[in-house]
Amino acid sequence: MVVSGAGMIGAVHAAAIRAAGGELAGVVASTPERSARAADEWGAPGRYPDFAAVLADDSVSVVHVCTPNALHVGQAEAALRAGKHVICEKPLATTAADAERLTGLAREAGLVLAVPFVYRYHPLVREIRERRLRGEFGAWQLLHGSYLQDWMLSENAMSWRVDPADGGPSRAFADIGSHWCDLVEWVTGVRFTTLTARLGTTVATRPAGTGASFATTGEGPRVRVRTEDVATVLLRTDGGVLGTLAVSQVSAGRKNRLWFELDGSAASAVFDQESPETVWLGAPDGARVLVRDPNHGSAEQRRLSRLPAGHAQGYADCFNSFVADAYAAIRGEAPEGLPTGEDGVRSARIVEAVLTSSASLTWVDVDPAPTAPVAPTALTALESTA
Ligand SMILES: NC(=O)c1ccc[n+]([C@@H]2O[C@H](COP(=O)([O-])OP(=O)(O)OC[C@H]3O[C@@H](n4cnc5c(N)ncnc54)[C@H](O)[C@@H]3O)[C@@H](O)[C@H]2O)c1
Repeated sequence: MVVSGAGMIGAVHAAAIRAAGGELAGVVASTPERSARAADEWGAPGRYPDFAAVLADDSVSVVHVCTPNALHVGQAEAALRAGKHVICEKPLATTAADAERLTGLAREAGLVLAVPFVYRYHPLVREIRERRLRGEFGAWQLLHGSYLQDWMLSENAMSWRVDPADGGPSRAFADIGSHWCDLVEWVTGVRFTTLTARLGTTVATRPAGTGASFATTGEGPRVRVRTEDVATVLLRTDGGVLGTLAVSQVSAGRKNRLWFELDGSAASAVFDQESPETVWLGAPDGARVLVRDPNHGSAEQRRLSRLPAGHAQGYADCFNSFVADAYAAIRGEAPEGLPTGEDGVRSARIVEAVLTSSASLTWVDVDPAPTAPVAPTALTALESTA
């Protein structure tokens, strides 16, 4: 296994590879010098000066793509064409067409393409999902929530994510709103079919280019910001249920607050990613707080509970479970809820619908319109003129 991209999430992948019992064969960064430094820091062999060297090594069976967004499609495609399984960071691609192409490539080649929508791996998220499958919540009445961070609040905060050339045309929504949509669709079983969105850029200019990941501050020349700091989205599901989502990278004091409330006709559930060891369950006659516990609850909650109750699990445990499941899929197993290329395509379509809606100020369909079937009379006419 090789990790491409030696930043924040690359290090998380490297740890997860080892936690899953995989061999970290190397790491590639943006230059041969940085690759060597990262290999040294992570205790991995310094075998690969660049990505081409990874592709040329037949002993590498899995590539983890952890680079800035715009590089995902090129690296993932090259790895798939070289016959390697790919775990590609979200967004799978910065356009839905590219995400579809990658997913088709993996399918045709019989290779695994997994996308780390890792919040699915909180044990209590699985608990809510299994309770939904058992019908405990009844018919959905309203789905709502937010994903709030504050790392871009300073007007001097800068990241490669700000520049559409590196990060893609959407920033806050594609970066974190995408996680919320993936999670809520997966837990509730609905599909958001139509949406209307508004994007806002609250910090008009930021310091010019830096390749750094999170909130590097600078005081040099400033550039106009062309990606959003905040997003609001109204959603409608295939069954006509309404939802709302607020997304922000400029909400003071909010670090990584993915929060949702799912209100059903019989019961409600609230999950907060920053307090993932409990969920709030509401019923007409009262409410209670459920605690993660490997000795109680659903099979999936128990499977993903790596520690006893009261011994807090979190984001890194989700990542470890996700990578372990991706490797199980590579071995031919079918782990429950592994996010794959199809989920990356779905997410890219939602991002494009959000961008289209924000530009047109209209409701936009998420899924492409089905191609109209050719009517028998038209077919006959075509055949007769052939
Ligand atoms: N799934 C999640 O929960 C999650 C969380 C954080 C980030 N991410 C995703 O991970 C990706 C990376 O984010 P990050 O926060 O680690 O960013 P980062 O800036 O910390 O790391 C990116 C790394 O890629 C390296 N890089 C640049 N060009 C390269 C090249 N040509 N070849 C190899 N490496 C190159 C950079 O030097 C840097 O070390 C993004 O797509 C982001 O959306 C996902």
